[in-house]
Amino acid sequence: MKIIAINGSPRKNWNTDTLLKNVLDGASSVGAETEMVYLYDLKFCGCKSCMACKLKKEPRPNRCVLRDDLTPVLDHVHEADAVVLGSPIYFSEVTGELRSFIERFLFQYLNYDDFSKPLSQPKKTAMVYTMNCPEAWFPEVGYNDLFKRYEDILKLYFGNCETLYSSETLQVKDYSRYHIAGVDGDARQKRHETVFPHDCKKAFELGIKLAAQ
Ligand SMILES: Cc1cc2nc3c(=O)[nH]c(=O)nc-3n(C[C@H](O)[C@H](O)[C@H](O)COP(=O)(O)O)c2cc1C
Repeated sequence: MKIIAINGSPRKNWNTDTLLKNVLDGASSVGAETEMVYLYDLKFCGCKSCMACKLKKEPRPNRCVLRDDLTPVLDHVHEADAVVLGSPIYFSEVTGELRSFIERFLFQYLNYDDFSKPLSQPKKTAMVYTMNCPEAWFPEVGYNDLFKRYEDILKLYFGNCETLYSSETLQVKDYSRYHIAGVDGDARQKRHETVFPHDCKKAFELGIKLAAQ
């Protein structure tokens, strides 16, 4: 059983990375082979709409033909049994790097002959988000809709999708050094020590679930 985490955060050892590591630790605790991919370490672009993956060829190409640092990653994810996509929320979306990954990842499987039948194989999938925003604001700022949108597309392509998020994360180690007056740094630090470990535990359990055959 192979599970890959695609890390769409630029910050190693911070919130998104920590949650994804917990997912992979959970999966490896039940025997899964794991891999973490740091998108910000790679040189790649989003889909260039070259349409080569849609050419009338036999067998159907249904794989991205662009050659860059994402090529081996897409191969690994294609072969993996499970994939977890992680990202901080940037301006109410996943990061640009994760969006570019998703374009390349999904477009190769998109079936214009029948949109309801993508050319992908079933796979366990999950989305992991971290953000400043309190959970109580989600309906107002549209995050429930965002989560549902990614869930729906991953379910269509792979048959399932789990969602995990951690809200009101610690953004900096020492709030007193920054212009962040709108956020209570002490409360964030406390939440980081009390709530974030629970989110990490949920991530570990998610990893176990994804690794289950
Ligand atoms: C460019 C940028 C845009 C952000 N936009 C949002 C946002 O729209 N909503 C939100 O809740 N947090 C936003 N944040 C905060 C991050 O989502 C939050 O700090 C996240 O946990 C960081 O993840 P990391 O620790 O893995 O880097 C933004 C941060 C940055 C740097």
